[in-house]
Amino acid sequence: MSIDQVSLGNTGLTVSELSLGTWRFGRRLVDGTERYDEEGIVETDEERAYELLDAYAEAGGNFIDTADKYGDGRAEEWIGNWLEGRDRRDFVIATKIYRPRRENDPNARGLNRRHLRNQIDTCLDRLDTDYIDLLYCHRYDDDTPAEEFMRTLNGLVESEKVNYLGISSGKPDAWKIAKANEIARRNGYEPFTVTQPRYSLVDREIDPNYLPMCRDYDLGVVTWSPLAWGFLTGKHQRGDVGHDDSTAIEDSRFAERYLTDENFDALDVLLEVAEEVDATPAQVALAWQLHHPDITAPIIGASTVEQLRENLDASAVSLSDEQFERLSEAKTVSLG
Ligand SMILES: NC(=O)c1ccc[n+]([C@@H]2O[C@H](COP(=O)([O-])OP(=O)(O)OC[C@H]3O[C@@H](n4cnc5c(N)ncnc54)[C@H](OP(=O)(O)O)[C@@H]3O)[C@@H](O)[C@H]2O)c1
Repeated sequence: MSIDQVSLGNTGLTVSELSLGTWRFGRRLVDGTERYDEEGIVETDEERAYELLDAYAEAGGNFIDTADKYGDGRAEEWIGNWLEGRDRRDFVIATKIYRPRRENDPNARGLNRRHLRNQIDTCLDRLDTDYIDLLYCHRYDDDTPAEEFMRTLNGLVESEKVNYLGISSGKPDAWKIAKANEIARRNGYEPFTVTQPRYSLVDREIDPNYLPMCRDYDLGVVTWSPLAWGFLTGKHQRGDVGHDDSTAIEDSRFAERYLTDENFDALDVLLEVAEEVDATPAQVALAWQLHHPDITAPIIGASTVEQLRENLDASAVSLSDEQFERLSEAKTVSLG
């Protein structure tokens, strides 16, 4: 197994075409809701986190995705601990800032200058590193002028704490990213060169406007939840409320978003193609993204080393043009 490398958008950086996600490191669920500082189900504990990082690195992976918020800081800390035994230069570390640091403090959230400047040092400390390869804004901040955060982010690059800037999206807010990049261009600031939207065979909101915007700006597109929280592995069946091996089912948002008739119809197409190419549904769902001309690197979110290895083998799956088209049309979003 070896993971191919790709150029990250219009940066000079080369990364693994499958990134390793760490959202579930230290993540606690209480009654189906994500919570911090409380007892609950931990999706990926510290020992498992190191096993996943080891297996990813052994397979030649170099692109690790985290965020200040994941596991309330535990994900960054565990990556920092793990890096101690490694050569930092072998890895491209991406983290994110935006989520509230203190729930009731409006200044300890978002992309305001104070929060960005404070939080970058917290991220560097936890990751035990001098620089972040790629800093994402976890979300666009409607409450802070784009001029303010683009200028502050530019300062973080100039101070060499950060090498490249990205922005992650919950909703497909293409025009906001374009606006921020035009402000950067006008003022000679570092622009966003990478985006991180949700994208999978059944999450297609970015098709009509967001992906064309990324193409036009030549932005790297690093996609989150490429297996729709495990739905695209085929382990959930129509009419089922869940599956014993799925932690996603504990999250109250999962069934509402994913266990729909329309998605099961798309899953049928995926299962059909998987059988044709003799690969697992997860591998084909990832291979579809690897074949997609607009996608740079999906982020894998495996819960076990076995799942991780299965998913990394997606690199070896070939799809014909016809199979790629059939998968692309399994679920679509209309313009408008
Ligand atoms: N920017 C953002 O706002 C944002 C948001 C979400 C995620 N992300 C990033 O994207 C990464 C991936 O997201 P995700 O965890 O939602 O990805 P995903 O690939 O959609 O779902 C991962 C989950 O699917 C199941 N799974 C994965 N491979 C499997 C396999 N081969 N067989 C069976 N089950 C399998 C596992 O859960 P079970 O075993 O429990 O079923 C696993 O935890 C995150 O870690 C994070 O880095 C970013």
